[in-house]
Amino acid sequence: MAWTYRTLPDLSEEQFARWQYVLEERTGIFFSHHKSILQAGLIKRMREIECLDYEQYYRQLTVGTGNAIEWTALLNTLTVKETSFFRHEESFDYVRKHLFNRLLSGEMGGESSVELWSVGCSTGEEAYSLAMIANDCIEGLGLDVYFGVTASDICLSALAEARNGVFHSRKLKNMDPSLCDRYLNCQDDNQYAIEPWLKQRVCFAQLNLIDMLQMPIGNMDVIFCQNVLIYFRRWRQKEVLNNLMRRLKPGGLLIVGIGEAIDWEHPQLCRVSEEKVQAYVRV
Ligand SMILES: C[S@@+](CC[C@H](N)C(=O)[O-])C[C@H]1O[C@@H](n2cnc3c(N)ncnc32)[C@H](O)[C@@H]1O
Repeated sequence: MAWTYRTLPDLSEEQFARWQYVLEERTGIFFSHHKSILQAGLIKRMREIECLDYEQYYRQLTVGTGNAIEWTALLNTLTVKETSFFRHEESFDYVRKHLFNRLLSGEMGGESSVELWSVGCSTGEEAYSLAMIANDCIEGLGLDVYFGVTASDICLSALAEARNGVFHSRKLKNMDPSLCDRYLNCQDDNQYAIEPWLKQRVCFAQLNLIDMLQMPIGNMDVIFCQNVLIYFRRWRQKEVLNNLMRRLKPGGLLIVGIGEAIDWEHPQLCRVSEEKVQAYVRV
């Protein structure tokens, strides 16, 4: 029988615990109730490299040096990259309102640029949505202010797609057509490319959220972090959020996915009263 058709046994509880431990330690992702997802991801990758033994693959990833490329490949398989433009519209509406009001009131008067951060940006739709909003606000007010979006993720294959900035038309179906007209160019085969000048405003970088100290980033006007913390344990969610808080400007806005880390609070943040969003402003 060809190796590809050989079935692999289920992970034993002991093997599962070991894999879960090493993955959580390196990425923060906690697979506790998702043994089948972890196992399916491992099997997929192990088949690709023709390794049919969990122990052997574990050693390959954890012993010695030179395994960084294989970690990257495994992470590409294990991370959930689902995303869309303007996912959770209310959160984006709130960003728009917040930025518009801050720019209008002149609260950002002395600032040389408006800085936004898409944390766990996956294939880039969230980051480009933020760029469209920032541009709308600045252009709408007729201001001469620069803006930049930083977009980070642990997954290199997602970042490569994001940098490419080309999306199939079905990805745009929930988007306001006027935004599509302004910010995307139709190419062949139902593919749409982000306008080059908008793309230039978005900088994609690999960042592991549990190693955030390595990212020299701060002074953000908006930090957008949705559907990422759900993969982490509660104590780690809070740790990440505390680190994000430190990277906000006074008056800056932190958006978290609705219902994520609901018991988290910070003395330097005020939760906004809007019910349909989970957002905090740095005082
Ligand atoms: C479901 S996507 C969410 C994308 C986008 N934020 C949204 O809401 O549509 C989750 C993303 O989190 C990223 N991720 C998971 N663990 C991470 C970590 N430790 N550091 C950085 N990114 C991580 C994954 O690679 C994936 O792209």
